[in-house]
Amino acid sequence: MLSNLLDNAVKHSGDGAAITVSARRRTDTAEITVADAGAGIPRPDLQRIFTKFFRTERGAAEEGTGLGLFLVRGLVTAMGGRIWVESEEGTGSRFTFELPLAGGEVAEPERVEAAASS
Ligand SMILES: Nc1ncnc2c1ncn2[C@@H]1O[C@H](COP(=O)(O)OP(=O)(O)OP(=O)(O)O)[C@@H](O)[C@H]1O
Ligand SMILES: [Mg+2]
Repeated sequence: MLSNLLDNAVKHSGDGAAITVSARRRTDTAEITVADAGAGIPRPDLQRIFTKFFRTERGAAEEGTGLGLFLVRGLVTAMGGRIWVESEEGTGSRFTFELPLAGGEVAEPERVEAAASS
């Protein structure tokens, strides 16, 4: 999911645009964001961006099938999460997905090590 969003940021945002990946833990969820300071997505296209085979006019000039975001959304929702985008043409795009943390807890590092050595 992350690599798909990163691939998009590299491929669709334009040469030299900065890309930022960030992750944060919320109470019951983990939130991961891939933001680029690139071309952005035209406002009328935003509502269709996660649909199968959809590519913007600009995006259609690059290699691709228009399936990436459709699949990412499918995976995220199958895991009980959600994904959304904020974007402005000429400014950049910011894709964020949120996944529920199992039981609202994160495994303790000690327990992870113990499991790995047994
Ligand atoms: N970071 C981005 N900046 C600008 N446009 C984007 C960005 N990410 C996605 N898009 C637009 O959304 C469209 C759909 O993205 P999606 O990942 O589904 O397909 P794709 O990248 O064209 O092809 P594929 O992922 O199947 O190789 C892209 O074609 C592009 O027009
Ligand atoms: Mg893609």
